[in-house]
Amino acid sequence: MPGAVVTGWGIAVPDKVVTNEDLSARLDTSDQWIAERTGIRERRIGGTTAELAIGAGRAALARAGRTGDDVDVLVLATSTPDALVPGTSATVQEGLGVRGGAFDVNAACSGFVYALVVAHGLVLAGAKRVLVIGSETLSQITDWDDRSIAVLVGDGAGAVLLEATDGPGQLLAWDLGADGSLRHLLKCDHGGYLYMNGKEIFRHAVRVIVESSQKALAKAGLQTSDVDLFIPHQANARIITAASQRLGIPDDRCVVTIDRYGNTSSASIPLALADALETDRIRPGALVLLSGFGGGMTWASAVLRWGG
Ligand code: UT7
Repeated sequence: MPGAVVTGWGIAVPDKVVTNEDLSARLDTSDQWIAERTGIRERRIGGTTAELAIGAGRAALARAGRTGDDVDVLVLATSTPDALVPGTSATVQEGLGVRGGAFDVNAACSGFVYALVVAHGLVLAGAKRVLVIGSETLSQITDWDDRSIAVLVGDGAGAVLLEATDGPGQLLAWDLGADGSLRHLLKCDHGGYLYMNGKEIFRHAVRVIVESSQKALAKAGLQTSDVDLFIPHQANARIITAASQRLGIPDDRCVVTIDRYGNTSSASIPLALADALETDRIRPGALVLLSGFGGGMTWASAVLRWGG
């Protein structure tokens, strides 16, 4: 059976940096509260979901030495589509000149890992190259007068190109989960703003990251001590610390980028993955654990052996 390996990756973030001080100037909040309670110091704001996705997709294709014409399927994870219909992937398909199919996946902040698992399935079903993008403009559904949400969110996109290989693929195991009875905890109705019950989400988030990571590792016959790099969804530095401590993964094996980008939902894991690759934290053969959670609630983990 063909496997799949990541041959390219890239990101796109808006130029505009909004610091905690910028927010403190117009909201009843402070750099100290935001940094201590969330780990966020600044975020990028601007652009459309399609623009950011095209930027990240273009960078991933360039790194792999490919063009849109080489892509069989484009899978775009987003919970902030530019329109209800058509899918934002339509704009991205045209922008990148993708030859094959294109569709959106909405599994909130777990979306990128869901899309990555789906993309591996497409390769097993015969696709040669699948472009996977997580892109979000949470700023578009944020009430900028509500300090409980405004300090948390950021915009951005990250992408990977998956290519079929005859050798072993990178994906060793995965776990996807959902519990719709918790969907009231994080939501945005048509035309409304993002609402979140932060405390409840926090509690469930730590539990589902730990359980889902352990399930995926167990399926691969591995343990947390085998993990070279843990790349969790970036929603709150305290969630990341609590989850990695429970998993027994030391800080130096955990990627944290929330300080620079805030919570970018389905873009957070590919942004963190690209950061780890750019800083040489992922070498061929490294065992990488991705784990996301978010609205739905949904959760998703993937265990990858880098390099295939
Ligand atoms: O992407 C996936 C989904 N999202 C998440 O995973 C987010 C999960 N939740 C969280 O990250 C945290 O719950 C938050 C960062 C959202 C909130 O942190 P918290 O430690 O749970 O704070 P809290 O909501 O319990 O609020 C504590 C206090 C409250 O004041 P009182 O009632 O103690 O007087 C809030 O009104 O902090 C106040 N507060 C703020 N103060 C300054 C809430 N937001 C702010 C703010 N600046 N921005």
